[in-house]
Amino acid sequence: MPLNGEVLDVNTENVLNALDSTVVVIDDGGNIAYLNSAGEQFFGGSLVQLRGHPIGDLLPSDSPLLTLVRQVQNTGSGVSDYGLTLDTPRIAKQLVNVQVTPLVDNPGFAILSIFERSIADKIDRQLTHRNAARSITAMAAMLAHEVKNPLSGIRGAAQLLEQGVNAEDQQLTRLICDETDRICALVDRMEVFSDQRPLERSPVNAHKVLERVRQIAQNGFARSIRISESYDPSLPHIDGNHDQLVQIFLNLVKNAAEAVDPSNGEIVLKTAYQHSVRFAVPGSNSRTHLPLVISVQDNGDGIPADLQDHLFEAFVTSKPKGSGLGLALVAKMIDDHGGVIEFDSQPGKTIFRVILPMSTEVPE
Ligand SMILES: Nc1ncnc2c1ncn2[C@@H]1O[C@H](COP(=O)(O)OP(=O)(O)OP(=O)(O)O)[C@@H](O)[C@H]1O
Ligand SMILES: [Mg+2]
Repeated sequence: MPLNGEVLDVNTENVLNALDSTVVVIDDGGNIAYLNSAGEQFFGGSLVQLRGHPIGDLLPSDSPLLTLVRQVQNTGSGVSDYGLTLDTPRIAKQLVNVQVTPLVDNPGFAILSIFERSIADKIDRQLTHRNAARSITAMAAMLAHEVKNPLSGIRGAAQLLEQGVNAEDQQLTRLICDETDRICALVDRMEVFSDQRPLERSPVNAHKVLERVRQIAQNGFARSIRISESYDPSLPHIDGNHDQLVQIFLNLVKNAAEAVDPSNGEIVLKTAYQHSVRFAVPGSNSRTHLPLVISVQDNGDGIPADLQDHLFEAFVTSKPKGSGLGLALVAKMIDDHGGVIEFDSQPGKTIFRVILPMSTEVPE
């Protein structure tokens, strides 16, 4: 280390030769004045052979690199360019970043530095599409991490509050605890969005699910919207997963609430038993009986026509802040239940119908 202004005695040529990237000095006549070791390898010729030769011998006459070099020679200020493709008889096709800087003591001289882009960088470009799909899974993992930790804090705080509030408000703190538990369970489920584990099923009371959804909606996003119900009191239990069913109908009710005019918005939750409808099971000859129909109807403007064909795909949204994940998640969860979702939409009346299998077990 140099001490107090002592000049460090190093051989600058050794320094240049130790670099991984190519360094070429071009004189004011456009000829090669110097080339480091990486440059000898890059261009496939030694300094002794190439010194004094026009840089144009190494690069095609239309190469954007030559334009950059000329620009720097004329203006005296440096430029950089990223992601250039170099393709010459001497050099196999390469993706590079380049930097051209003027040599201050020698007017008209330019230093050309070439940095090869890494293999990973190149592959990255080709895989952008596949990565987009994979990133959904990555996002699920991120959510698991970023959502679950704060949730345990929220839950703890709600438990503390519970001790000091009256009975009416205790309902709300219980709601916070129950819902944070539900979100945790769901984030766990999202984390394994791609994994095909069988669903944990039990007999689920559809009306309890809908009441829970209604309670959450009316305490939050649907505070000013009328939610009415039309239930079949003798409806058998669903063969399903309670937490996922809450998530399904919460998404549908949220979409409905976002679609209606807050001043006269109305949402109708309806359940019905249908005897005779059977659905073909994809990939087999059997037909499955799906007798439970649970629908969410709203009086909003309807689903935009251009979205209808792709409604259940991820990232399809008409909302400025929407993620377009709601219905994709709904479709996946209904699919896991062996159920079906369909919709009818016209201005003033949009219905999402979820058709689900019935439980044959006697509920606990
Ligand atoms: N009840 C409805 N009425 C009108 N349009 C709807 C209704 N439900 C869904 N849509 C349309 O379908 C789109 C996709 O819905 P989805 O729930 O998948 O995503 P999102 O609501 O936009 O965003 P996110 O649910 O992730 O917050 C919505 O942006 C909206 O245009
Ligand atoms: Mg939504």
